[in-house]
Amino acid sequence: MPHKIAVLGTGKIGEALLGGMLRAGRSASDLLVTVRREERAQALRARHGVEVVTNAEAAKTAGTLILAVKPQDMPTLLEELAPHTPADRLVISAAAGITTAFVESRLTPGTPVVRVMPNTPALVDEAMSVISGGTHAGERHLARTEDIFNGVGKTMRLPETQQDAATALSGSGPAYFYFLVEAMTDAGILLGLPRDKAHDLIVQAAIGASVMLRDSGEHPVTLREAVTSPGGTTISAIRELENHGVRAALIAAIEAARDRSRALAQP
Ligand SMILES: NC(=O)c1ccc[n+]([C@@H]2O[C@H](COP(=O)([O-])OP(=O)(O)OC[C@H]3O[C@@H](n4cnc5c(N)ncnc54)[C@H](OP(=O)(O)O)[C@@H]3O)[C@@H](O)[C@H]2O)c1
Repeated sequence: MPHKIAVLGTGKIGEALLGGMLRAGRSASDLLVTVRREERAQALRARHGVEVVTNAEAAKTAGTLILAVKPQDMPTLLEELAPHTPADRLVISAAAGITTAFVESRLTPGTPVVRVMPNTPALVDEAMSVISGGTHAGERHLARTEDIFNGVGKTMRLPETQQDAATALSGSGPAYFYFLVEAMTDAGILLGLPRDKAHDLIVQAAIGASVMLRDSGEHPVTLREAVTSPGGTTISAIRELENHGVRAALIAAIEAARDRSRALAQP
């Protein structure tokens, strides 16, 4: 299998991965990209010094093909690739809701396919990328995929049957936190704080809480109890959150996201 890696459809996620691979020490000469528009090609050449090729050339030359087009563009891309993709290529699909079976059925029988669901913090190297192997993907294919996606954050292997649940938690996850920050900022304004000061206070609280969650090894309940003194301010706020059913709303919201992810994956 040739050692070059190609990103096919180099938009936001594709460029984030490209940047991650270059920072991880891969040489630009080992990477290929494909695009749909010349101005995008020029921008990628200028920013990263990579070679821009056609999808067919990428399939012939690279051993690993990362498909990073929008889900609705996948059928066309796979049609273009199929005649040029030998079965020894590792095909990694990052398109939300596209199953490994869908990709496998359009390529040479036996092609190893890995499905990955990253999230937008890939743009700041803090992604969580959930990885599932298809029928012909073995340990070395999963390890190579991890190696690439570890360049933009963390990775986790899960069975493909759990990809919809992971999408609901981690793919959409950042949006829930942004929503919370928006609501808390409104609260800050209600309490008379300037918007920018409220924003800075909340963002730093979010960063502090995230680092505590990641690094302390403590259960979230333990961390919350440490801020919840008897008769204090935090418990007054928690009572209101419980009164308004915020916990139940989150559970229902994430279940709805999982169901929507499942529905979108239907052909
Ligand atoms: N953004 C996220 O947070 C996120 C998270 C998880 C997964 N994903 C998945 O990642 C994939 C890419 O998302 P994105 O946000 O990076 O989208 P994007 O910015 O639109 O990138 C896709 C790129 O592919 C190009 N393209 C489309 N068809 C092509 C073809 N046949 N040959 C070559 N290039 C082609 C598009 O060209 P044009 O510029 O001409 O449109 C665009 O530049 C999606 O499938 C999405 O489900 C994204």
